[in-house]
Amino acid sequence: MIEIVSGIGRMRDISDGKHAEGITVGLVPTMGAVHEGHLSLVKTAAESSDFVVVSIFVNPTQFGPNEDFERYPREIKNDKRIIESAGGHIIFAPEPDEMYPDGFATYVNVDRLTAPLCGRSRPTHFRGVTTVVAKLFNIVNPHTAFLGQKDAQQLAVIKRMVRDLDIPVDIIGCPVVREPDGLAMSSRNMYLTDEERKQASMLYRSLCRARELVDSGVTDSKETINTVNGMLSELDLFDVEYVEIVDPEELTDVGDSRNGGLLVLAGRFGKTRLIDNILL
Ligand code: PAJ
Repeated sequence: MIEIVSGIGRMRDISDGKHAEGITVGLVPTMGAVHEGHLSLVKTAAESSDFVVVSIFVNPTQFGPNEDFERYPREIKNDKRIIESAGGHIIFAPEPDEMYPDGFATYVNVDRLTAPLCGRSRPTHFRGVTTVVAKLFNIVNPHTAFLGQKDAQQLAVIKRMVRDLDIPVDIIGCPVVREPDGLAMSSRNMYLTDEERKQASMLYRSLCRARELVDSGVTDSKETINTVNGMLSELDLFDVEYVEIVDPEELTDVGDSRNGGLLVLAGRFGKTRLIDNILL
């Protein structure tokens, strides 16, 4: 059975040992409640890194005051079993008190990229993400870290943080893993009622329709966005938060979607917030 390490010092010692032996370390940061999306990252990591660390930490600083921190699923026993079967070698699951001891006062903040899209409704979210990911990079000291394209803004923000702060880690973005009907896998999908779950398949269908439009020569982003909004407005249980076409690295609007814009969307079924995206 793989080991679950909770101490920061012990995790660092293990990683230092691997570095000293010339063994490459890969990190897959997660908040647990592991699904196929996470496992694809673990499998990709296992193909290219000798030693795969999967972190599981429901990070309090990335949740807003009215978000789902308390009810976020915690299933570490089950997670451990499936992480092992996917090729993970160790789980790092620190305690909140050790990650954020009394007197904690330092945050990592990436400007600009964190303001639009999810940053508008979740103003402190990315600060929490970059702070915890910077800490994980300092503790685990991975050669490579594996992140999902599912969270496209998070991926762009973390890439920028690593570049700007000269953190010696390679970031690998991995494709979105979907349910058979196209819904992007997410730990939050389990909050959906049956009817919400049925309606949720429209999110990916609308993204595919957008790609068809662009492939057929539609270049005006507004037209594509209007089509997606039209499809989503048919869902009586879904409240759209945003539908935009942005540059995948800068996250700024692109008016003309011919040259590889990223169509991103977010919205809510009740309190359950879902995001998805597709590269056009
Ligand atoms: P979490 O939501 O658990 O996701 C962990 C990683 O899995 C992220 O890189 C995310 O993009 C990826 N992922 C989730 N669903 C996916 C899917 N359907 N297909 C492909 N990849 C998927 O993202 C976080 O945790 C946290 O913000 C974290 C980075 C761990 C910092 O706390």
